[in-house]
Amino acid sequence: MRIAMIGTGYVGLVSGACFSEFGVHVTCVDKDAGKIERLHKGEIPIYEPGLDKLVEQNVKAGRLTFTTDLKAAVAEADCVFIAVGTPSRRGDGHADLSYVYAAAKEIAESLTGYTVVVTKSTVPVGTGRAVEKIIRETRPDAEFDVVSNPEFLREGSAINDFMRPDRVVIGARTDAAKEVMKQLYRPLYLIETPIVFTTVETSELIKYAANTFLAAKITFINEIADLCEKLGTDVHDVAKGIGLDGRIGKKFLHAGPGYGGSCFPKDTLALVRTAQEAGAPLRIIETVVDINDKRKRAMADKIIAACGGSVQGKTIAILGLTFKPNTDDMRDSPSLDIVPALIDAGATVKAYDPEGAHEAQKLLSGITYGNSTYEVMEGADALVLITEWNEFRALDFNKVKSLLKSPILVDLRNVYEPETMAKAGIHYTGVGRPSIA
Ligand code: UGA
Repeated sequence: MRIAMIGTGYVGLVSGACFSEFGVHVTCVDKDAGKIERLHKGEIPIYEPGLDKLVEQNVKAGRLTFTTDLKAAVAEADCVFIAVGTPSRRGDGHADLSYVYAAAKEIAESLTGYTVVVTKSTVPVGTGRAVEKIIRETRPDAEFDVVSNPEFLREGSAINDFMRPDRVVIGARTDAAKEVMKQLYRPLYLIETPIVFTTVETSELIKYAANTFLAAKITFINEIADLCEKLGTDVHDVAKGIGLDGRIGKKFLHAGPGYGGSCFPKDTLALVRTAQEAGAPLRIIETVVDINDKRKRAMADKIIAACGGSVQGKTIAILGLTFKPNTDDMRDSPSLDIVPALIDAGATVKAYDPEGAHEAQKLLSGITYGNSTYEVMEGADALVLITEWNEFRALDFNKVKSLLKSPILVDLRNVYEPETMAKAGIHYTGVGRPSIA
């Protein structure tokens, strides 16, 4: 079995490396010659724990290769995955499918023998049909099937998510295509992973429904957190108390500064547009999008309030800039709203992120980037935690207090316990947690 993986972004690179680990021969293809050259040298373009080792061992075993030559990779493949980006289209929020369609056309030109063409990118309902049409029109003689196989991995835990998923979803029209997909995912059959076979269109919708549901779940607990702040109740205990109900589930109930990343913001918007156009508006998701946008900005007000109502002339130390830990991804990170709002309010910002500084520097100017956790605290008027990297979980609060001008801590991820902070003499503000004097 041979795969061509078109696109070496997050999904393409992780899926390619993981399929090769399953024993399949994988050729990862990208137009970006510089990226392919770096991959040849063993340099991984993204920070994802374990990915470098996985790539290295499969390249060594001869199962994983990288190329810019799409034609050759597709010609020898039994299965071609389209894993290119589907960013938000400027202006209307729809997914921009131009990369998917361009890939489909190029793939069509190089197909040899029966090939399964799989959309792995997150694509709106109807994209599989459109890909099929493009291939059919470009190569009326081609023998192929189009399959939808969305990916549910999370950044930061991508390899484990791929290797041990809760389920695999496959939208396929023919038995031949289903058979190829079953063979590919054989190692997951062996560990009894549920595989959901459905139509291409339903599979496409499942991906959006999953992401928008999770975004709504986070937004729900974020609003409950706001309510907790008014009522003097604790969102941490509310999440625990409701999450233990199996119908609700305890995951994705961590209140915070609002969801970010490369997926939830664009996928919620895209499904909202699809639903509006289909005449079945998803009002709940429209509201989720609106609440989440406003929430990120509101976090700056929360910080300003914790600093006594003004940050004019004050220095704010920030820990964590990426949209979540264990990634260097800054896309739609809450920090992109919070930091500029603090600067606008007259603050000087010093920030430290273990892996994100390089990406952050491209997007956040006018701030100082520190090299370590404690370095940024020196002489600062307040400390703010935006991203819950593990190394921020066990701070030495005596040291923190000695470095800060005033012991103010705003913890936007509820990493610390209000009681512990009160005992340590820290003026603590969490999200939806009672403040203890
Ligand atoms: C998300 C989905 O979880 C994956 O299943 C999906 O495959 C992926 O999008 C995608 O479509 O490619 P990801 O964006 O990598 O994965 O990260 P998540 O762990 O889902 O976090 C998304 C955002 O929600 C982050 O900003 C995170 O901090 C926030 N979040 C998450 C919370 O604020 N609270 C929570 O309880 C969970």
